[in-house]
Amino acid sequence: MPDGAASSTVIPAACAAGVRSGRHVAIIMDGNGRWAQRRGLPRLAGHRAGLEAVRRIVELCPEFGIDTLTLFAFSTENWRRPPEEVRGLMALFRRYLRKEAAELADKGVRVRFIGDRTQLDIDIQQLMAGLEARTADCRRYDLVLAVNYGGRAEIAAAARRLAREVAEGLRSPDTIDEAAISGGMQIADLPDPDLVIRTSGEQRISNFLLWQCAYAEFVFAEECWPDFDRDALERAMRAFGARERRFGAVVG
Ligand code: FPP
Repeated sequence: MPDGAASSTVIPAACAAGVRSGRHVAIIMDGNGRWAQRRGLPRLAGHRAGLEAVRRIVELCPEFGIDTLTLFAFSTENWRRPPEEVRGLMALFRRYLRKEAAELADKGVRVRFIGDRTQLDIDIQQLMAGLEARTADCRRYDLVLAVNYGGRAEIAAAARRLAREVAEGLRSPDTIDEAAISGGMQIADLPDPDLVIRTSGEQRISNFLLWQCAYAEFVFAEECWPDFDRDALERAMRAFGARERRFGAVVG
């Protein structure tokens, strides 16, 4: 049985009605653009409001018993957006890394990144490395930010690494099993997501954590990401808590 398959942790505060904790919650933060357009604002205003929602949700993790939160901040496909939107998103990202570093460290949040950071501006790469180093010993909970991330690219990289090991005689092809591929993911010690939330009513996986989501539960929230608040998180967690997770087996 996968790690955490039968776990049922009671959430300390938000849990009067038996909401079950998700150990790893991953979120596709969708709908910033539509949130802005509906208000007659530029798309970047939606991303700015989205950043506020990031701060809010990161803050709520301990209360909801979430010990790993992964946020899909920028996909390998997002470079196709207009250059000014990409620039704006990178500026927001830069600001977040600069402004939040001390607070994240104070709160005991270990921050890590997945995705190909080599295509990002060098100062952003340095801020990312700095934040990872500064929070490396934090143990309260994990925040994983997926930046220039694509699930297929991550699986392809793991396959390449294993193929190289075979070519160099370091392993036999017969040793390539699910554990070997899992071990080749960017953060190999990261538990698979228990719950994936996608906001804005869209129902797609969009190349997010493809390998890791094999047995994840999905909740599609109607709110656009900037409107995703405590109540919305509680609804999602409640829906998750009502699910019977069987992992392919028969329960009961
Ligand atoms: C999807 O909404 C959202 C994004 C591509 C960017 C998400 C970024 C943030 C929330 C801010 C920065 C985050 C961090 C962690 C620093 P969309 O623009 O695709 O919305 P639409 O589908 O309505 O157009």
